[in-house]
Order: sequence, then structure tokens, then C-alpha cells
Amino acid sequence: MNLVVASPTGMCFGVRRAIEQLEGALAKYGAIYALGSPIHNPQEVKRLVSLGLEVVESITQIPEGSVAFIRAHGVSRAELEEAGRKCGVVVDGTCPYVRNVQHKAEQLEEEGYRVVIVGDSRHPEIKGILGHIGSGTVVMNGEDEVKPEARRSKIGILCQTTQREETLALVASKFIINTDEVRVYNTVCGATIERQSSIRRLAAAVDGIVIIGGKNSANTRELVEISESLGVPAMWVEQAEELNRGWLRDRRTIGVAAGGSTPDWLLKEIVRKLKKL
Ligand code: F3S
Repeated sequence: MNLVVASPTGMCFGVRRAIEQLEGALAKYGAIYALGSPIHNPQEVKRLVSLGLEVVESITQIPEGSVAFIRAHGVSRAELEEAGRKCGVVVDGTCPYVRNVQHKAEQLEEEGYRVVIVGDSRHPEIKGILGHIGSGTVVMNGEDEVKPEARRSKIGILCQTTQREETLALVASKFIINTDEVRVYNTVCGATIERQSSIRRLAAAVDGIVIIGGKNSANTRELVEISESLGVPAMWVEQAEELNRGWLRDRRTIGVAAGGSTPDWLLKEIVRKLKKL
């Protein structure tokens, strides 16, 4: 069995930055409360919890005067302000690319555009962006969701940082019909584009791809979908124990790729295990 590791792959700039901030703050303050899971990788979160991190779902669960951490996906403006009022220190790990989408959404709203976000409405990044603008915003996952409506005047389109550019293009082109003005910001981040391109190159050279990442990670799901759409079967695992020997045995060249929240130690551990197998 030959093994080819995608390049670039694994942890992105924003997640690496958030983890470094978190580790620095844990070393300084000892205990920290993260508002929502800080990244979408259960194994890395478990490691951070062992260092003193506590994950809570709401600000009401954070004791007064303690240290709060804002995840890479960002939060709503109200949550950020509330954390500032209640906590002694707020460590803001919001990825700068996510902050850029929040700012662009605010700007579009101020300029009178009806904001459309291409993405998953259940994802924390989208919930955070929605919490920076008014209630008229529409979130859609694909061009099928663009409804024929009466003539529209101004539509401003943005997308989740981990979307596929192709999906954004399809939604935007559908809005051009029946709209006076469409402004589109391609807010897919560079790390996402690079990882999606690297999996396309990898798919051309292998019989199957092992994709490592949290089952709750949107960008890992995109990698799996891209691989399968190119006719290359993917095995999506979070950890080494999930590797399926039967699946591996049938293939001569295996690719390995990892989502943007997958830590380096986990990627190395799984590559080591695959080499052994
Ligand atoms: Fe930031 Fe892109 Fe990673 S938005 S968190 S660099 S996937």
C-alpha cells in the first residue's frame, strides 16, 4: 500500500491561532470558560479540557469575574458584550477571516442591502454572523433554496468561510435574475480553498482517501463530499481506532487529508498507524 498525504492539509491558521491563545491563557490564568466548543475536534478539545478549559453553552454558566474564551467561529455581538460585562478577562479567538464576514454583513446592512449568507444556519459561525445584523437576513445552503420572488432591489451575498466557491457562484448567479443590484463578497477563506484544491489533486492520484476530522466539522464534511463527488471513496475518521482494515486492504494507493481543526499530533498518529497497517 502506498500512502500519499495531501499538502496543504490539517489545521488552518485561524484554529492554530485560537489554540495558541487558549494555551497561553490557560498557562496564565489556570481556568478558562469557553463559550461553545472552541474548535470542532473532540480529541483536541479533550486535551484542552485536561489543561483547565471548561466548555459552557451559555454566558449564564460562566462565573462573574472569570476568564472567558471566544471560539474561532465567533459569537454574536450581544454575547461578546455580555462576556465583556460579566468576565474579568475575555480572550477573543475569533478568526480574523470570520470577523471580516461579520464586518461585511454589517456594512451591507448599513448600505441597505438585504443580506444573504450561503452556509449552514445551524453552524456557530453563521449564528455568530446573524447576531451582528438584523432579522431580515436569509441563510441558504444551495441554489435550490433561492425562491422566485417579486422583483428585488438590492441583494448582498456573503458565505460561510468553509463553503465551496462553486456553491457561492451558483447562488449568486441565481439571484442575478430578477434583482436590480447584486453585490457578492467571496468570503471563503484561503485555508479552505487551499485544502479543497489539495484534495482534488490528491483524488486524481489515489484509490481512496482517509479524511481525518471531527464529525461536527463543516470543512471536513466538504472534503469528504469533494472526494466522493470525484468518484474517490472517502473514509472519514476522528481517530486511529476507527480505521477500517477491510476498506484499506482493497486499495493500492491511499491518500490522507485532514480538516482545518485537526491537530498535527492526531494527523501524525493516524499516518503512523496507516504505515504500520
Ligand atoms: Fe479561519 Fe478559515 Fe480556519 S476562517 S478558522 S482560517 S477555516
